[in-house]
Amino acid sequence: MPKKYVIANFKMNKTDSEVAKYIDEFKPLIEKSSCQIVLSVPYVSIKTAVEKVSDSNITIAGQNLNENDFGAFTGEVNAEMLTAVGAQACIVGHSERRSKFNETDELINKKIMKGLRDGLICVLCIGETLFDKKNQKTEQVLKQQITKCLNSIYANELNHIVIAYEPVWAIGTGISATTDEIAQAISLIRKMLSNLYDADIASKVAIVYGGSINEENIKDIARLDDVDGVLVGGASLDPMSFSKIVLAFDDEERTNDKKTKKRVLKK
Ligand code: 13P
Repeated sequence: MPKKYVIANFKMNKTDSEVAKYIDEFKPLIEKSSCQIVLSVPYVSIKTAVEKVSDSNITIAGQNLNENDFGAFTGEVNAEMLTAVGAQACIVGHSERRSKFNETDELINKKIMKGLRDGLICVLCIGETLFDKKNQKTEQVLKQQITKCLNSIYANELNHIVIAYEPVWAIGTGISATTDEIAQAISLIRKMLSNLYDADIASKVAIVYGGSINEENIKDIARLDDVDGVLVGGASLDPMSFSKIVLAFDDEERTNDKKTKKRVLKK
């Protein structure tokens, strides 16, 4: 079984010393987890975070990157700079970047190409707005985002991409998508990947869900077979809450192991 991704997105929260304190508190809570845990911290804390997680099963990610190599782009950070301080992944195309910083699918595609070229795992965020959902445009929107964002990305590069299905209406609203909605959207995304690449490749791409995840609703979400993990905003800011979200996946794995053993014994 591939590891489940449990990714935190701190967004613009926590100073450097707060990130350090968080990791000190968080590490012992999840040390037995078999999940692939990723903390996406503000740029200025990546180095501190990388040092703090060096003896653990946690990796550190950026929240954005610039698509250019180097040069006159005041205030920007590129993929090479992220990897140089030890980041192994980066969120790309978050809906807040799309809506507040005018990022288009074409720009996000360039960012992914740059991130992949420099060795980062790219967590590509896609998802429909409430307006899209109300107008039955979800499928159309997801298709456009996937097709454009993955333009010219080769099949063998997809193992360095995690797709995060984050419906915009579920982000920070306290209204998570239902398990049916999540399962439906993920199956739709796999179908789209299958059309763009092939069924075998599509089945192996990691697809996670994000949007108002908490300690309670994670139990049902972790039970969904086709969900390869989660991307968590608000509930990731408290180490105890986030550890419970991580451990929900471990609990689920243990339950599945027991079920498999029982089936084998019955034979
Ligand atoms: P919330 O978990 O706060 O809804 O945020 C989700 C998100 O945007 C993660 O990238």
